[in-house]
Amino acid sequence: MSHKSNYQPNSGFEKWMDERLPIIRLGYDSFVDFPSPKNLNYFWTFGGILAIFLVIQIITGVVLAMHYTPHADMAFNSVEHIRRDVNWGRLIQAAHANGASFFFLAVYIHIFRGLYYGSYKAPREVLWILGVVIFLLMMATAFMGYVLPWGQMSFWAATVITNFFSAIPLVGEGLMVFLRGAFAVDNATLNRFFSLHYLLPFMIAGVVGLHIWALHVPGNNNPTGVEVKTKSDTVPFHPYLTMKDLFAIVVFMIPFAWFVFFAPDILGHPDNYIPADPQVTPPHIVPEWYFLPFYAILRAIDFNIGPIDSKLGGVIAMFGSIAIWFVVPWLDRSKVRSGAFRPMFKWFYWIWIVNFIGLTYLGAQPAEGVYVILSKTATFYYFAYFLIILPFLPRIETTLPLPASISESVLAKHKTEAAE
Ligand code: HEM
Repeated sequence: MSHKSNYQPNSGFEKWMDERLPIIRLGYDSFVDFPSPKNLNYFWTFGGILAIFLVIQIITGVVLAMHYTPHADMAFNSVEHIRRDVNWGRLIQAAHANGASFFFLAVYIHIFRGLYYGSYKAPREVLWILGVVIFLLMMATAFMGYVLPWGQMSFWAATVITNFFSAIPLVGEGLMVFLRGAFAVDNATLNRFFSLHYLLPFMIAGVVGLHIWALHVPGNNNPTGVEVKTKSDTVPFHPYLTMKDLFAIVVFMIPFAWFVFFAPDILGHPDNYIPADPQVTPPHIVPEWYFLPFYAILRAIDFNIGPIDSKLGGVIAMFGSIAIWFVVPWLDRSKVRSGAFRPMFKWFYWIWIVNFIGLTYLGAQPAEGVYVILSKTATFYYFAYFLIILPFLPRIETTLPLPASISESVLAKHKTEAAE
């Protein structure tokens, strides 16, 4: 539901501008007057939190790049130099490194909110798909950023991940060498990763612009999943949601600040404080926590499937586990959008969340014994949720009655509260 503009230029300058480049009108229509469902809960504040983290990452990253040297002989020491000698360097480096973790924490909450409330369903498929593109770009950016300090884990992560591409038939070897810029991970790899790590966040910012555009055409979904019907179902974005978002941002910043100030290195792997050494392989090569579920899926495929060997199978499963998100809007056949009105779906959804956290745990364990069996089971459930449960559950599920409108659901809630 695109809404009509209510913007009235307030001054001569605004009127002059409005006739040439109506950018103030765009800002007013999008972030002041924008009609938003009045029942949004705090899970709808994570888009704003993510936008702030993108800005934090870009600002701290640009400052870090002023003091960082993308050369295999100097990168490690230049990061130490930032941490020890550069004014405020310790703080900026810690904010950037921990900022990546909090960015991912927020994006996972944002994605899982969408999966619960069916925000990916028509008419928001493009909005969702743009989100998945952002997520893939975030993963590429984070991976390349992790390589830059050129510690042991940086070097070996770059080696392992670029090596995946060699599993692709025919073109794989060539592609791997192309990505590395050499036969082995070396200075050329570090240089191109630095270049791309600087470029991709700006591409993310561009896709976020499209994401918000695609949000503003249908407007927000909401916890009931019932579309806005009349103006009384909405409140203007400002001051209601600007203040709510601001409050949520401040609350989310508290644990972030705790990590930055009191435990800046706790999320880092000890091996990454050892300079890269191509002659010494670390005993366990473990990615950052936010990659672990996908790493567990990769390792779960340790068997050949017909002509597909285990290495290629693992790579397909890992990329497939994210690629499947692109088609979720068409896999979920339920007519009822929000999980709040789907009693059976809720169970499968929460099991999927626990399963995802389980995969995170399993990705950090050695690929042996019981961990292998658990990883395979969890990988199976991960895919079964999308390929079996979402398409077929609606055939047997009896959904709860939907409220006639957002206003009705809000009033009904107040009535029960008053009666209690
Ligand atoms: C840098 C990363 C991202 C930023 C800055 C961002 C920003 C936003 C903002 C500001 C909103 C509106 C407020 C809200 O609903 O929280 C939103 C909504 C949404 N986003 Fe994102 N987003 C990002 C990543 C993603 C990803 C990775 C996905 C999915 C894979 C996604 C899917 C959605 C969906 C479906 C909505 C509509 C929610 C609804 O109205 O129910 N976003 N996003």
